[in-house]
Amino acid sequence: MAFINLQNVTYKYPLTKGPVLQNINLQVREGEFVSVIGPNGAGKSTLCYALAGFVPHFFKGEFSGEIEVDGKQSSKSTLDEWVLNVGLAFQNPFNQISGAKYTVFEELAFGLENIGVPRDEMKVRVEEAMALTGISDLADRSPYSLSGGQQQRVALTSILVMRPRLLVLDEPTSQMDPIGTREVFGVVRRMAEQGMTVVMVEHKMEWIAEFADRVIALKEGQILMEGRPNEVLTSDLLTENGFGVSRYTSTAREAKKRGLWRKDHLPVTLDEAVEGFKK
Ligand SMILES: Nc1ncnc2c1ncn2[C@@H]1O[C@H](COP(=O)(O)OP(=O)(O)OP(=O)(O)O)[C@@H](O)[C@H]1O
Ligand SMILES: [Mg+2]
Repeated sequence: MAFINLQNVTYKYPLTKGPVLQNINLQVREGEFVSVIGPNGAGKSTLCYALAGFVPHFFKGEFSGEIEVDGKQSSKSTLDEWVLNVGLAFQNPFNQISGAKYTVFEELAFGLENIGVPRDEMKVRVEEAMALTGISDLADRSPYSLSGGQQQRVALTSILVMRPRLLVLDEPTSQMDPIGTREVFGVVRRMAEQGMTVVMVEHKMEWIAEFADRVIALKEGQILMEGRPNEVLTSDLLTENGFGVSRYTSTAREAKKRGLWRKDHLPVTLDEAVEGFKK
């Protein structure tokens, strides 16, 4: 049985005219790393909220369908129960900061404190998670003194310390440089290999192609396409529907028109492009 199972999920916010998610059917297996792409307003964050239980438990509106994670139904759980299994890193990392703590370390321990984890264990779990995401040196800083990219690392870490079964990340590298981005994708990949299931909204096609197992392309609240990263990310459907594509894909597509790209598949990453242009 699938670890995540969405059946005909349809949702409308109280103030939107039409549905923002429309008849979403989606199955994800345990330990799978799925990436969600889509233009602005496609419903990516709303899908994250639905997986994390905020839709419909926090944002009201009109909800129908069924969301199941690890055999439990969202509609039959409370938000408090749900968040123990599903961790969400918000699109804006600032929303993740509690505002109640003076240091990054305390901020990271906050969630564990709330569920009554003993002090010694708390320290170990926070230090492990900080080492994993490369922020050990930020432990004593104020959460408010950090750069956007650092805040995003702290937000990710605050989810990882809770060890959720499902990790939902909404554009977690949007404020990071290429090195930071690659590191985060690497950490997420490792978590998936350890059995955590990951749903990650992202725009950075090259890293998705390298690290994710599957891509879901969302448009106007519906799944336009899904499949293996290289297939989806090089599909003409994406360009026709206003999705961004990797510069290597668009370059090779132009080259193909001129008879200069002779491989069957278009590239997504630099390495694939270089390989394809070799004589
Ligand atoms: N809290 C809310 N209340 C009412 N409408 C909302 C709310 N959040 C989002 N919407 C609307 O729902 C639609 C989908 O928004 P959503 O934020 O899920 O898209 P997105 O794909 O994450 O976009 P982006 O790429 O800009 O992050 C948009 O039309 C948006 O205006
Ligand atoms: Mg969004």
